[in-house]
Parts: sequence; C-alpha cells; structure tokens
Amino acid sequence: MGFPTQRPRRLRQSEHWRRLVRETRLAAEAFIYPLFLVPGQRVRQPVESMPGVSQLSVDQSVEEAKRVAALGVSAVILFSAPAQKDARASAFLDPNGLVPLAVRAIKAACPELIVWSDVCLCSATDHGHCGHVLASGVIDNDSSVETLAQVALNHARAGVDAVAPSDMMDGRVQAIRQLLDRNGHADTPIVSYAAKYASAFYGPFREAADSAPAFGDRRSYQMDPANVREALREVRLDVEEGADLVMIKPAGPYLDVIRAVREAVEVPVVAYQVSGEYSLIKAAGERGWIDERAAAFETLTGIRRAGADLIITYFAPDMCQWLKS
Ligand code: PBG
Repeated sequence: MGFPTQRPRRLRQSEHWRRLVRETRLAAEAFIYPLFLVPGQRVRQPVESMPGVSQLSVDQSVEEAKRVAALGVSAVILFSAPAQKDARASAFLDPNGLVPLAVRAIKAACPELIVWSDVCLCSATDHGHCGHVLASGVIDNDSSVETLAQVALNHARAGVDAVAPSDMMDGRVQAIRQLLDRNGHADTPIVSYAAKYASAFYGPFREAADSAPAFGDRRSYQMDPANVREALREVRLDVEEGADLVMIKPAGPYLDVIRAVREAVEVPVVAYQVSGEYSLIKAAGERGWIDERAAAFETLTGIRRAGADLIITYFAPDMCQWLKS
C-alpha cells in the first residue's frame, strides 16, 4: 500500500520528530584531532592553507591539548616536522625528539586524553618520501620497515597510547608489533593506516607537516583511488599482522571503502577526513559560498553513516562545541 497511506514526511514534520528517528548520531567521543609539532618555544604558526590550524612548538601543543580536551575531544594524533632532515630520518629516532617530548608533556598535563602518534618517515627525510630511497629512486620496502619499527618503539618508550603507521610499506604492522613486544610494549595498540590512497586531498597537510616529496609521487606505495577490493586485502593483511584498529584515508571520496571495510572486519574502523577535505569547506565557507558548520556536520555524518567508528578531523574541536550549542 503506497500513497496516500504511506507519507514518509510525517516523520520529518518537526525537529523533534527528526531527532527521534535519526539513524546516525555524531558524538564528541568519536573525534580525533591532529596536532602538528615544530621546533622552538612559544611557536604558533598558522598553516595558511588550513584556517584554524597552526604548527605548534611542544609547549604550545600542551596548551592546545588542554583546550581541546576541555571541549570534549577524547584523542589527538601527533605529527611533527623536525628541523633536521636526512636520508635516514634520524630525527625520528631521537628519544628527545618532538613527538616523544610532546607525548610526555601532554600525558602529564592531560592524563585522560588519548595520544596517538603518526609513524612515517616523510617529514624527517631530505627527499620527503615515506621510506628509504635506493640509488635507483625506488622506495625500499624492507629497510624502511625496520626504521619505521624503530620510530614506533621510540614513541612507545615515551608513553604514547597508540602508534599509527601511515607509510603504506608492506609488513610494517608485523615488524612494529614484534619490536614493541620484544621491548616490553605488548600493550601499545597499533592503529594502521591500512587503506591509504594516493590522494590529491593531502596538499594542505604537506605544508603543515613539511613533507612534500622532493621528486616523484607516492603512487608506488599509496593506493590507487580506483580500487576497493585491494583495500580489503590491505585491511585483512594488517589485521592478521596485528593491527588493533584500521584506518581508511581520505574519508569523503571513499565512503564505499569505509562501508566495505566495516562489514569485513571486527576491529574499530577509523576514517581520516584529511586536510584537503577540510580546506575545501573552510575556503568556501570564508567566501560565503557554503555554510561551513552545516557542511562539516553533513560530511562527518556521511562518514559515520558509511560505517566509521572514529573520525580524525580538523573540525574536532569545533564539532565538540557545535554539538553542545
Ligand atoms: C604522511 C601523512 C600524510 C597525511 C597523514 N600522514 C600525507 C601524505 O601521505 O602525503 C595526510 C593527512 C592530511 O592530509 O590531513 N605519511
């Protein structure tokens, strides 16, 4: 029996009704906020292409962590752009590097805030690639994996709540798990960037993390945007290797991937609404071409509806505030 008996508009007639029958709800607890660390003291350097986001010295990252924790953000993920860059990414092996220092300082100031660290080589290498580069120009998988595991151990020793490898080398989750376990960090979870696509939407981030590749691109290790079965393969391999959470990145253009992954595995699924997705909304909002807040709600609702349990987003603090108002 259809119309006129069936009238779906009955359940849309007021905000009270709409709220009651809403299928997807956004909650502050689901948002994770990225922080970008740079050397120095009292540094708050705005990232031009990401309005509202700044590069922070360690002392300022603590202030920012306190601010967002007070708003209700439950987790942050740390990135860093060290001054020293070389072929081996040595800055990331320094126990007093930016990430270890920030982890200790933030955990001391906000013990209730969960702190993840991005594990990659690109912002500490002079060539800007996510692994080691051979003389031939090829990114060498297995030696990169060894270094990545050392970086993860360096972060674990500082007390990070989870390490998040974003390099897309093969076998790095297993290598990280084994090295952490052998060194007394069996309880440190791994958040794997399992399906990370070679995306045009990382542009603004590369300014924030100072990590643009000096030559070539990342397509020999990041995924082809056309593939979804391959994403499932990557995710299954990472879960077998010991990933505790898996991530899909970017989020908005990959909602079908999020859905497929949600149905394929039991571990929590994280989606990363990346810099370009944020900057598009911010830029159009500043021009009055789009309602920023409504667009943030709509994109994040779509990502949740697709099946993401957690979302890394630069809107996290604003969303926590908007959800209260
Ligand atoms: C580095 C890394 C990137 C992002 C997170 N980790 C950039 C890249 O792979 O080039 C992108 C995040 C964003 O755009 O917000 N491996």
